Amino acid sequence: MFDAPAPPLSPAATPARPRRTRRTAALRAFVRETTVTAGQLIHPLFIVEGQGIEKPIRTMPGHAQRSVDRLAAELDDLLALGIRSVLLFGIPRTKDDRGTGAWDPDGPVPRAIQAIKQRAPQLLVIADVCLCEYTAHGHCGIIHDHTGHVDNDETLPLLAKAAVCYAQAGADIVAPSAMMDRQVAAIRRGLDDEGLVDTPILSYAAKHASAFYGPFRDAAESPPAFGDRRAYQMDPANFREALEEVRLDVEEGADLLMVKPAGTALDIIRAVRERFPHPLVAYQVSGEYAMLKAAAEKGWLDEERAALESLLAIRRAGADQVITYYAKEAARWLSTQA
Ligand code: PBG
Repeated sequence: MFDAPAPPLSPAATPARPRRTRRTAALRAFVRETTVTAGQLIHPLFIVEGQGIEKPIRTMPGHAQRSVDRLAAELDDLLALGIRSVLLFGIPRTKDDRGTGAWDPDGPVPRAIQAIKQRAPQLLVIADVCLCEYTAHGHCGIIHDHTGHVDNDETLPLLAKAAVCYAQAGADIVAPSAMMDRQVAAIRRGLDDEGLVDTPILSYAAKHASAFYGPFRDAAESPPAFGDRRAYQMDPANFREALEEVRLDVEEGADLLMVKPAGTALDIIRAVRERFPHPLVAYQVSGEYAMLKAAAEKGWLDEERAALESLLAIRRAGADQVITYYAKEAARWLSTQA
């Protein structure tokens, strides 16, 4: 009688006692399912043109806009803390209607990439690809009038030019965040045409039109001068649409995927994790950081525990890597934990 089913256990005879594995620190560590390490955190950097600039960002304590010549100490810090990757945003001195600064080889991002590759070649450099920091109107692409409607197809070649420019400067990964339809395909073709077949694309695949980007727009000086981004970024109400956005980007050739924001889209992170094999990045955005910072400043939250718990939750949802303004602090906290 080999395949006779095991007799049902009487619930009374085997009371479940989940607390057994929580009794000591050693047991808790032994059964811990999720970890956060410095190597899983991506540190954002804001690069300005000019020299000798290190201007703190008011809405994001601990972060600053820096000119390329002021990056060295920051890079040394990152390496010492075990952080392995950075995400670059550029703030040009002048902006125009087409965002031409986005593909200027002497612009802040290409120059920062070269400086990083020289000083810290082991750091992985991800270049954000969007026009909103470079357009005078602050929208992520070309607009023809003050309705704020972004012309999708006219924007595509410009995003491709920016991606090519950063890849040629030495970026390890380009990360389009404009939420234009077919931007991944356009960038893939642009890179391939220039022989940059080995540059991977990390697609901001599912990006909600979120209130939590507020502090970033101060940092990157990129708020839309009029209107908002709801005609190109996704409605936070939509889950199925997020999966469809991801599927399309995969079809267009995305190598890595991103969900953004992270904390308000843990369900989407989990769903993408289960449906796609691709490396998955989640972006804990500026507003998530600012909320924790502000509560901590008031003494209302234990900042270390709350920040690490939020990063853990993003990892538990299924993200491989997390872009976070807490990268440095978290790495420091983690290095002093048992
Ligand atoms: C550029 C871009 C934004 C963020 C990352 N890339 C701003 C936006 O979409 O409005 C936000 C990041 C953050 O809030 O930390 N399009």
